[in-house]
Amino acid sequence: MTPGPGFYARRLAQAGAVLAPMAGYSDAPMRQLAAEQGALWTVSEMISSRGLVLGGESEKLTLGRPYPGEQGRVVQLFGAEPDILAQAVGRAEAWFAPAALDLNMGCPVPKVKGRGGACLLQTPEVAYDLVRAMRAATPLDVSAKIRLGWDADRSVEVAQGLAAAGVSLITVHGRTSAQRYTGEADWDAIARVAASVAVPVVGSGDVRSAPQARARRKAGVAAVMIGRGAVGNPWLFRALATGEDTRPDARERARTALRHAQLHVAFYGADRFGLLSVRPLRKVLHQYLPDHPELREALVQVNTLEDVERALAPLWQGPPHPAPRPGPPPAEHEEHVALSAP
Ligand SMILES: Cc1cc2nc3c(=O)[nH]c(=O)nc-3n(C[C@H](O)[C@H](O)[C@H](O)COP(=O)(O)O)c2cc1C
Repeated sequence: MTPGPGFYARRLAQAGAVLAPMAGYSDAPMRQLAAEQGALWTVSEMISSRGLVLGGESEKLTLGRPYPGEQGRVVQLFGAEPDILAQAVGRAEAWFAPAALDLNMGCPVPKVKGRGGACLLQTPEVAYDLVRAMRAATPLDVSAKIRLGWDADRSVEVAQGLAAAGVSLITVHGRTSAQRYTGEADWDAIARVAASVAVPVVGSGDVRSAPQARARRKAGVAAVMIGRGAVGNPWLFRALATGEDTRPDARERARTALRHAQLHVAFYGADRFGLLSVRPLRKVLHQYLPDHPELREALVQVNTLEDVERALAPLWQGPPHPAPRPGPPPAEHEEHVALSAP
């Protein structure tokens, strides 16, 4: 699909859910697996606009670099200075081939505070300037992803201001910044935002299954975004795109876990101790196989692709075969063969 203005509207004409931006997770390999399973679009990990413009970054920056052939990927930027964000949009567009640009207004991490992220919820007029600067810098759709507020819900006011500043879409994570990830996402608040603006609203927070996602659509949102629930479960996107809630068996899930690791090595390059290529998946691989806790210990210690294959080997081998006994008498052996015949 050609990127350009109207990307979100075109994608929202289809059924499905959106892969959330997640620092440390929604990198190229995870986005590829989600896109293959029918995610409506995916969002990069947040990228510092200052880093892009002033930090000597290049098109090789792995946070932004697409996988070969990637389409339908939104690049998320954070920052607080309109001129820097406008330049960052230009760089992101030239280097990373995004389908649209998103402004991070939800990151509660202290180092981001004061420079953008959820801090913008305290000074939303700064965010409106940022959106205007981003829009002036690109013909692509510009969106924003907010939390409900800093420590109290002011999401309707902020969303209306963002819509007036020209965003094409707003994503709402139904928690305040002060809440971080505690408590439950407030989908009633998300529904109030969806009802208060003309632009499409995507809802985010605590969606872990396809039936749950369908129930959340009743909040009046244009689509549901899934983050943590999609780690180790790209099939959620298939279920929501097709309406068929099928989850592959353990062997198929293990094959995808291995493929995830292979995509990591292909994207980050094979490094000697797996520091960049395989180790970051220690927190991910076991989530493909929650029903096989016996594999977890090996999966959280992998350094290489061979380690991943070895850790998953019990699943390739299928049900355990009876151990051969030393020197069985011929009759017993024949009986065994006869018993295992179909
Ligand atoms: C590890 C982690 C990293 C995240 N990084 C980002 C980010 O870079 N940008 C952003 O807008 N939200 C980020 N989020 C928030 C998610 O996009 C999402 O709104 C939130 O996790 C709630 O959805 P979930 O319950 O489906 O995970 C992050 C969340 C997690 C758990």
